[in-house]
Amino acid sequence: MRLLVTGAAGFIGANFVHQSVREHPDVEVTVLDALTYAGDRASLAEVADRISFVEGDVADAELVGRLVAGSDAVVHFAAESHNDNSLADPSPFLRTNLLGTYALLEAVRAHDVRYHHISTDEVYGDLELDDPARFTEQTPYNPSSPYSSTKAGSDLLVRAWARSFGVRATISNCSNNYGPYQHVEKFIPRQITNLVDGVRPKLYGAGENVRDWIHVEDHNAAVWEILERGRVGETYLIGADGELSNRRVVELVLGAFGRPADDFDHVTDRAGHDLRYAIDSTKLREELGWAPRYTTFEDGLAATVDWYRAHEGWWRPRKAATEARYTASGQEVLSARP
Ligand code: NAD
Ligand code: DAU
Repeated sequence: MRLLVTGAAGFIGANFVHQSVREHPDVEVTVLDALTYAGDRASLAEVADRISFVEGDVADAELVGRLVAGSDAVVHFAAESHNDNSLADPSPFLRTNLLGTYALLEAVRAHDVRYHHISTDEVYGDLELDDPARFTEQTPYNPSSPYSSTKAGSDLLVRAWARSFGVRATISNCSNNYGPYQHVEKFIPRQITNLVDGVRPKLYGAGENVRDWIHVEDHNAAVWEILERGRVGETYLIGADGELSNRRVVELVLGAFGRPADDFDHVTDRAGHDLRYAIDSTKLREELGWAPRYTTFEDGLAATVDWYRAHEGWWRPRKAATEARYTASGQEVLSARP
């Protein structure tokens, strides 16, 4: 299989390519990535001689058309992915997440190429903290941020291209990933790298918001199942029953550094901050037999902390600029718990 993977110099895509080279050695992988601030070729260094890398924009219809014509399948990870950035400047989110997906859809339509679309549980909006409900494939779309609304829009484009033009597409909506190669702007790597630097973790608001954590390798194993055996036209939710409050996650990260559980700062909350995400992945588990391998968050987190400690050369170049962006956005340490 000739597989085109977009956005694989980023966190999940890079892990997907590592896993693909390891577990599907017959697959020929071509990566298309624009190397934005979030992309880093170093994330693919270990597999560089096993893949082809093309630097370019998924919204470049001519380039995308050429690459798709030479592929049997596309897995589309490329996106602007960070909620906080989308509040500061939504424009690249509209271009990449909507126009980039549109360019890919037109190309897979023209060349009848199998397409898998990577999306997020954030398209469903949020749940109350005390609500026993979880998101399912039937939950209505209700996104909150510029990021999640552009992801929701891209999912709807995929559904329309599947129905109207017979594009052989599947969609997956996954919960919060953690693991190696995640940008230091994101919650868990930000706190780990802060602690390496002797800086206190930064908790938005009261820290009661809940995220449903999944190890990136479990996400990518599910993507392979869907790509190979998923029903065309269908959506699959991916989640590993990993609900935790942000405060609990910070306590666990502090514990990994031998620091007291309350040794963190409360900082300015995110505007429109989604309260809780929770995934019901029954369809994926029952139809495709997928199950997560990382079932204990504490173990996955300990391995992730070890990875960041051992790979300072990978994250260090982006750390100061990332913290400067947070400061410039007005994020401040609060003197008391809000
Ligand atoms: P990331 O920000 O780490 O990586 C994004 C990659 O896309 C980068 O390499 C970047 O250079 C590339 N890119 C950005 N704009 C591009 C463009 N116009 N053309 C080509 N390449 C471009 O993101 P991530 O966390 O790895 O997320 C990957 C995908 O998974 C996204 O679609 C995201 O919505 C989805 N997702 C992420 C999570 C999560 O927890 N991180 C959960 C569910 C779904
Ligand atoms: O649910 C899937 C989504 O998960 C993906 O679609 C997104 O691409 C991905 O970025 C992630 O979105 P979140 O906004 O949930 O992730 P983030 O890492 O930015 O924040 C996780 C939680 O931690 C969130 O409630 C905000 C909070 N937070 C974040 C940072 C950076 C803090 O408390 N402190 C921080 O410093």
